[in-house]
Amino acid sequence: MSGGLAIDALSVVFGRFRALDDLSLAVDAGEVRAVIGPNGAGKTTLLDVISGITRPKSGRVMLGDLDLTQCAEAEIAKAGVRRKFQKPSVFPMLSVRENLEIGCGADLPAAARPARVTALLGDVGLSARADVTAGRLSHGEKQWLEIGMVLASEPRVILLDEPVAGLSDAETARTAALIQALRRPDRAILVIEHDMAFVEAVADRVTVLHDGRTLYEGGMAGARADARVIEVFLGR
Ligand SMILES: Nc1ncnc2c1ncn2[C@@H]1O[C@H](COP(=O)(O)OP(=O)(O)O)[C@@H](O)[C@H]1O
Ligand SMILES: [Mg+2]
Repeated sequence: MSGGLAIDALSVVFGRFRALDDLSLAVDAGEVRAVIGPNGAGKTTLLDVISGITRPKSGRVMLGDLDLTQCAEAEIAKAGVRRKFQKPSVFPMLSVRENLEIGCGADLPAAARPARVTALLGDVGLSARADVTAGRLSHGEKQWLEIGMVLASEPRVILLDEPVAGLSDAETARTAALIQALRRPDRAILVIEHDMAFVEAVADRVTVLHDGRTLYEGGMAGARADARVIEVFLGR
């Protein structure tokens, strides 16, 4: 588990509603984990807790020795946890290159920035679009740019919320290849997605969430064969 993310007995309550119910989940370093489940299962809430936006009623989120539930959002980011929100949030008036420069953050010395940005442009397949204003990119290109911005700080934990929503099949395949390339022995990747073909292509294991609890954890083939998973999610 070294370097991974350990979610331990997490409960989140909104009024009388339990969005997460005693949820435990370990995403190992080197792993790509998909979290799937019906709408309202608690997937986005889980990312909100990990990134410090929502405070749990109980439980912990450990990154090494650090309990993220005790940290402010900025500290969590500084610890190397980066998130891509469902809706692309690039700076539309700035160029692709300028967006990636911002993603590098203030900790990277200015002299090191051009080389990092050039590498990132290649990683996300946007080298030919470097000087285009981000607002002019296609929806898919914006998603890739935002993945590049997340990557720019060389995070230990990457959280992706529905990265292929609204993408064509070709764009989805390209995003799957991109996420595979983000895998590193010292990096944990957690991706929420509804697209099963995509999940199958990128994830080592899947966690099926239902009513804030784990319904299934394991390989995608096992999820497809699991009667409870079929009933609450895949069967519909
Ligand atoms: N800030 C909030 N206040 C009240 N209820 C919320 C809040 N955020 C999420 N919920 C509820 O918690 C449940 C889980 O939501 P969410 O984590 O967004 O689900 P998912 O991403 O799996 O679709 C939903 O029923 C949602 O309405
Ligand atoms: Mg959601």
